[in-house]
Amino acid sequence: MTNKMMDLEEIIKSRRTIHDFIPGQIPDISVIKEAMATACWAPNHHLSEPWHFYSLGQETKSSICELNKETLLETKGVEAAEKKYKRWMDIPGWLLVTCQKSNDELLFQEDYAACCCVIQNMMLCLWDKGIGTKWSTGPVTREDQFYDLVWVNKDLEKVVGLIWYGYPADVPKTIRKPLQQVFTELP
Ligand SMILES: Cc1cc2nc3c(=O)[nH]c(=O)nc-3n(C[C@H](O)[C@H](O)[C@H](O)COP(=O)(O)O)c2cc1C
Repeated sequence: MTNKMMDLEEIIKSRRTIHDFIPGQIPDISVIKEAMATACWAPNHHLSEPWHFYSLGQETKSSICELNKETLLETKGVEAAEKKYKRWMDIPGWLLVTCQKSNDELLFQEDYAACCCVIQNMMLCLWDKGIGTKWSTGPVTREDQFYDLVWVNKDLEKVVGLIWYGYPADVPKTIRKPLQQVFTELP
């Protein structure tokens, strides 16, 4: 237990989705790998270990930004598309997490849940190291062309999220409902 800056409660409560990263500062991949390895200790029914992490390099990142721009050109117009392209190109770190597919609906549902646990674990580990993340499931991540760009077979794996990471330029504030609104005690 070294380098612990916060206790678990503080890490969970203070982690925020980071929308603005300090441009050009990419956290060391060894720190990211350490967080991924720790994250894999998530609960996982049948120990199917259905997750896969992909670290996306400059070429893949650019292709995704281009694909997103093309889609936005059609739906939102040139200005919005260019703005988003620049914004995305400035995001320092790019990871993709997928879940293996299964013909067994219950298994797939449980596997997807386990992948979500893994992502949260990873985001918390990174937050503890001062690295912010944003989990994105934007429409581009569901496009067939997206799967082609990241060399993922859509028949075998489902994208659970693009995980952007870097050092936060800004940490937003948010709120949660009081516990009594989401808690019921049954006899
Ligand atoms: C499955 C999932 C998908 C998400 N996709 C997006 C997204 O596409 N765009 C976005 O801005 N935020 C996305 N988020 C982040 C949420 O908007 C964010 O968690 C929420 O606003 C609460 O803020 P917090 O993470 O700072 O507590 C996603 C979160 C989850 C769990």
